[in-house]
Amino acid sequence: MSVPFFSTFQTTSSIENAPFVHLPRAKWVGAFDLYQWEGFWYTLPRLHATIALQNHFKSLDDDVILASSIKTGTTWIKALIPSIMADRILTDEQDPLLTNHPNVLTPSLEFKIYRENTTPNLSEMQSPRLFRTHVPYRALPESIKNSKCRIVYMSRSPKDTFVSMWHFLNTLRSDEEGPFPIEEAFESFCDGVSAFGPFFDHVLEYWKVSLEKPNKILFLTYEEMKHDPKGQVKRLAEFLGRPFEKEEEVDKVVWRCSLERLKSLDVNKEGIDPWEGIAHHAYFRRGTVGDWKNHLTDEMASRLDEITRMKLEGSGLSFQKV
Ligand code: A3P
Repeated sequence: MSVPFFSTFQTTSSIENAPFVHLPRAKWVGAFDLYQWEGFWYTLPRLHATIALQNHFKSLDDDVILASSIKTGTTWIKALIPSIMADRILTDEQDPLLTNHPNVLTPSLEFKIYRENTTPNLSEMQSPRLFRTHVPYRALPESIKNSKCRIVYMSRSPKDTFVSMWHFLNTLRSDEEGPFPIEEAFESFCDGVSAFGPFFDHVLEYWKVSLEKPNKILFLTYEEMKHDPKGQVKRLAEFLGRPFEKEEEVDKVVWRCSLERLKSLDVNKEGIDPWEGIAHHAYFRRGTVGDWKNHLTDEMASRLDEITRMKLEGSGLSFQKV
């Protein structure tokens, strides 16, 4: 690994880390030490931040929290939520996405806010406050679970999520290193070992609460978003209490947040995310459904399909078969 990203994933001081050294540990994609805490895998900086978040975050009823497992298309929703919440009279020239990467508009609780400061003062943030997190449902602060704040959960088919994750992690490797062996990354994913994994446990926890409390958690899938972006964007806006009045408004938001447009903006073509240390462009790739076909063997696909079938059995959740 040869990019600054690595530093953000590396440990803090040994004194700070002392309480965690006894936790189960796994090497992930040959580079990251993950620690298993309360059933999920974290790097140490993320674990510190998650515990600080759990202990100190006070939710407001109008907060909006975007939650997801990694590489499920979160960046799309990071752009959509602020665009839906924004004043509808903003012109294209005033669109905040023109000058801000979506990571900035929907800041991360564990990569930015509680990483920089374990007791941040969030009282001056403009309301409604927008946050994002990869923290599993069980580890969220009680205040998020018990307040009236809304959670939008983004999910994606496991095969495309895995392939997207593998590509993303490869952007962090030098040319000399080349891509990480996909077979090894696949084994880890199937074993449930990935940052904020196991993937299926992450998805299922949010899914179950979304069924019990549909006004609390809106469960979105990447496949449905791709199939009917307008319909899903309207659904999202209604959930957020900001329904559209005109079709043109929906069209505008869908266009402003489209992969094609975001990819073409200078702000997303250049620069590095200061918190995660990752090149801005790495968040935008192909954005298709079924890209796994270009990377997984038939055997890998069948194996992951079988794991998916077993994990989701009886849950009522299924991902579009492509
Ligand atoms: P691919 O790697 O399949 O192309 P995350 O945002 O959770 O990190 O997930 C990244 C995935 O979302 C990538 O998928 C990326 O191309 C896709 N993505 C990012 N922005 C998008 C957008 N505006 N519309 C559709 N897909 C988008």
